[in-house]
Amino acid sequence: ASARDGYPYVTRLFEQELKTLDPAKQSDRDQSLKKLFDHLDAELLATVIEVNRLTPTIIEVLVKAPMQARKFQPGQFYRIQNLESLAPVVNGTVLAAEGLALTGAWVDKESGIISLITLEMGSSSRLCSLWKPGDPLVVMGVTGEPTEITESKTIMLVGGGLGNAVQFSIGKALRASGNKVIYFAGYKNLSDVFKVEDIEEASDVIVWSVDPAPGVEAIKPNRPQDRTCVGNILESIESYAKGELGDTSIKLEDVDHMIVIGSDRMMAAVKQARSEQLKPYLKPEHTAIGSINSPMQCMMKGVCAQCLCKHVDPHTGEEYFVYSCYNQDQDLDRVDFPNLNARLRQNTVQEKLSNLWLDYLLDSQA
Ligand SMILES: Cc1cc2nc3c(=O)[nH]c(=O)nc-3n(C[C@H](O)[C@H](O)[C@H](O)COP(=O)(O)OP(=O)(O)OC[C@H]3O[C@@H](n4cnc5c(N)ncnc54)[C@H](O)[C@@H]3O)c2cc1C
Ligand code: FES
Repeated sequence: ASARDGYPYVTRLFEQELKTLDPAKQSDRDQSLKKLFDHLDAELLATVIEVNRLTPTIIEVLVKAPMQARKFQPGQFYRIQNLESLAPVVNGTVLAAEGLALTGAWVDKESGIISLITLEMGSSSRLCSLWKPGDPLVVMGVTGEPTEITESKTIMLVGGGLGNAVQFSIGKALRASGNKVIYFAGYKNLSDVFKVEDIEEASDVIVWSVDPAPGVEAIKPNRPQDRTCVGNILESIESYAKGELGDTSIKLEDVDHMIVIGSDRMMAAVKQARSEQLKPYLKPEHTAIGSINSPMQCMMKGVCAQCLCKHVDPHTGEEYFVYSCYNQDQDLDRVDFPNLNARLRQNTVQEKLSNLWLDYLLDSQA
């Protein structure tokens, strides 16, 4: 609407200049305009290259989007959507996704390829597995902030399930800047483990953990320095701190900074444990951030306010709000996790209905 209503005003701005143009040279001007459009199309239009299933609930979508790939820095994310006008229609329902916030798992800046690893949570993320090579996508971004890459520190990464996809590029960048990285990678089920080599490249020491369940076996580490345990991720951190998993080259008390990425409940649990059961093993001055998955809409840093996240100053109790799409990395001690959880549940009835409707549509096709 802005373009349709606005173009006469723009044309008027250039009225005098347009009068001086030589009509005989119009075809030259058309040629250079076409060249500009071709260049913009090649840089900005995004196309699906491949869709790979990594686990029963996680897929990787490889997308070619050259400029968006070049601008990426670890920790940042994109707003991804298929095109409604080209989406398949099943029983009268257009299978168009809402704009999804997806972090770049890795990018190849030369070939312009972005890897997006997606957990199938609800109807939009489930639609990603139906995308085909060659499908055009809308890839807006990058947005958010690059994660701060320190130098020569000891950094603890804590990744829960899908959160591990976000940690690969962060861990690799941290190691390249001379940091030591201890990486706690936790999963609900053994079948949730993916991209082990990437996790190895992102860490000096890994502590694998899988939640207890009847008959569950510990994840087998490939490297001698790595450790493993059956337990939730907090139990694994505590066991490691107590030395129950054996000697390692990085102690918990060496950790300067933590980067925690997982569900809001997992990040809330880590926040709390740092001042309770893990407190005796951590430097009092260590810092910790989480990559906060607020509800998202525009992801354009302040346009819609859907991503507002409540913070509480731990010293003064002052309450204030931040835009998570401006900066997803937030001080764990400030995030009000009960509020975040309530915000994430605000559309729960509609989400459940949409999910059931998608089941129905896909079943009707089978
Ligand atoms: C900065 C950021 C980066 C993200 N990166 C990734 C990523 O790399 N890979 C990935 O799989 N997911 C990522 N997410 C989460 C992803 O955007 C949501 O899972 C997705 O939008 C859910 O949409 P849906 O329609 O499938 O589910 P819905 O039907 O909308 O919801 C299903 C469930 O997902 C939860 N949910 C909805 N929106 C979000 C959200 N924004 N964040 C977390 N949970 C949500 C709902 O509370 C509900 O429980 C990221 C989110 C943010 C904010
Ligand atoms: S998502 Fe719209 S302002 Fe952040």
